[in-house]
Amino acid sequence: MFITFEGIEGVGKTTHLKWMATALTDVGIPVLVTREPGGTPMGEEIRDILLVHRHERVAPLTELLLMFAARAQHVDTVIRPALAADRWVLCDRFVDATYAYQGGGRGVPEGLIRELESLVLGSFRPDHTILFDTPVEIGLQRVKERNNGHDRFEQEKMDFFERVRMEYLRIARLDPERYEIIDATKPLVEVQQSLSRIMTEILEKHGVH
Ligand SMILES: Nc1ncnc2c1ncn2[C@@H]1O[C@H](COP(=O)(O)OP(=O)(O)OP(=O)(O)O)[C@@H](O)[C@H]1O
Ligand SMILES: [Mg+2]
Repeated sequence: MFITFEGIEGVGKTTHLKWMATALTDVGIPVLVTREPGGTPMGEEIRDILLVHRHERVAPLTELLLMFAARAQHVDTVIRPALAADRWVLCDRFVDATYAYQGGGRGVPEGLIRELESLVLGSFRPDHTILFDTPVEIGLQRVKERNNGHDRFEQEKMDFFERVRMEYLRIARLDPERYEIIDATKPLVEVQQSLSRIMTEILEKHGVH
């Protein structure tokens, strides 16, 4: 099972991914937790390049290609081998983030992202994608309270994140089989209850009891 966690900054992806990893481990399922951009030594270096503040303008295509470069390394050396070894892979952001951020946020044409997606991933896609959704102000407020500095994306303006959020919702609604949208404005325990339900459905669907 390859499950990805998506949503704008501060919606709770990392918090809930850890929670689900523990819950799966508790029922005896071997789990690999990873993230994008990153997830491999080389990918983490690319992540640093992408997130650091710089004076130089970053061309949207440069950002897009670096995302996919890191992803190619991640899929080939970490994700596919883990799945082949029957582990469940939980990934903090994946290809949908590229549609949302580089597409919705930066305005890169969707067709271009699609071309790179098919080049890098072929037909490989997550089995399930959980989209955590909150209004932009709530996510950003949580990031502010978490308070561990702002990266190059987090310094973007509200309208950037509005576009990212809308693109996430648009693509999730196109494919209700793959995506679950969770209202992440709810308190942590309620979000966990939703996750718990989703997890049970996934386990049942795949014959794990
Ligand atoms: N439903 C919730 N209610 C209240 N606080 C929450 C909720 N979900 C997450 N938080 C808190 O919000 C902060 C951000 O959560 P988290 O770091 O998991 O978000 P994230 O989506 O991984 O963010 P980023 O995109 O920046 O990595 C954390 O301090 C977390 O405890
Ligand atoms: Mg996070």
